[in-house]
Amino acid sequence: MAVREFRVENFRCVEKAELNLHAHYNVIYGANASGKTSLLEALAYLGRGKSFRGAPLTSLVRHGEREFVLFAKVDRGEQLCSIGVRNSREGLELRVDGDATGGSASLAETLPLQIIDPDIHNLVGGGPEERRRYLDWIAFHVEHDFLRCWRRFRRALKQRNASLKGGGAGIEAWNAEFVDLGMRVDKARRAVLEICRGSLEEQGAALLEGVVRFEYRPGWPSEKNLAEALEDSYERDLQQGSTQVGPHRADIRLIYDERQARRLVSRGQQKLLACSMVLAATEVVQTHLERPMLLLLDDPAAELDQDSLARLMGQVFALRAQIVATSLAPDVLSFPEKPAMFHVKHGVLTRI
Ligand SMILES: Nc1ncnc2c1ncn2[C@@H]1O[C@H](COP(=O)(O)OP(=O)(O)OP(=O)(O)O)[C@@H](O)[C@H]1O
Ligand SMILES: [Mg+2]
Repeated sequence: MAVREFRVENFRCVEKAELNLHAHYNVIYGANASGKTSLLEALAYLGRGKSFRGAPLTSLVRHGEREFVLFAKVDRGEQLCSIGVRNSREGLELRVDGDATGGSASLAETLPLQIIDPDIHNLVGGGPEERRRYLDWIAFHVEHDFLRCWRRFRRALKQRNASLKGGGAGIEAWNAEFVDLGMRVDKARRAVLEICRGSLEEQGAALLEGVVRFEYRPGWPSEKNLAEALEDSYERDLQQGSTQVGPHRADIRLIYDERQARRLVSRGQQKLLACSMVLAATEVVQTHLERPMLLLLDDPAAELDQDSLARLMGQVFALRAQIVATSLAPDVLSFPEKPAMFHVKHGVLTRI
């Protein structure tokens, strides 16, 4: 799954860049505002069809230009695959081997990637949505049919909410579908957490040198089944005009040394916990796909002391993923072997 060639045109501050990436170790270094995050964002865009920073499409096109184009050749073991993204006047085009029909799911299958950036602590300290997205990303890769199920569930939820806003007329028709699909989404998430549990706890222990536990919260009281919880919540749902229980309210509770990580651990510890989650997900999906994944590390040194950074990088290298890391200077990160080095200045890239 390693990215071999990578080309960028008119993406954020980068007018043109071409990178021949190393199968395992790559570093992009440069001063503040030189374009490091922009380059990682471009790579991530190729695997997701959207910005990991949640940036709107229009802000991604280089000022004064009309479109951006991204292209990569991805080594999938048995074949070399080309993926491309173009944001033109006709809208966003996503292509895998010239085929535009698969959409962003096809990009994600071709180039599975994870990102550790300076906001990663939000995976632990932020709201539950990011943790659900985290679980669902793993489920997408390891649980057959998860995406279709999840999309159908979202549609049932939307329809049920529309019915609630209209005073509940016709709601029975959506309840059965909501419960059926909701239970399937829930089952897949529980299965994923079980597959990941060992890896999550090991990565957590290695990075934080303490006991880390993960508890799953399905999104409704555990003593009830989903159908009962939905029935009991009906009056509240009507008042709020939206469904208050269900898998769209699920969460993972993280416990570090018996403290609730979301509120009671430091920012650096939250970052390490979040990194342990990302590394566990990478490990599990790589094992499932039997191929190395792409791991983007945007300024991994931020917020971490030297020992913590060394532990993090040790765990990262052990995965044998393809790494593209950024740093302010060339010598901030030490690698087990010589990485491919790129220097970026005012959006212009030079191979060192
Ligand atoms: N659409 C755009 N067109 C042109 N320039 C842009 C666009 N979007 C962002 N920029 C500029 O690109 C520059 C580089 O931003 P980027 O976030 O990549 O820097 P960085 O090297 O990661 O910096 P830091 O070390 O501070 O994280 C910034 O000055 C930003 O204002
Ligand atoms: Mg940056």
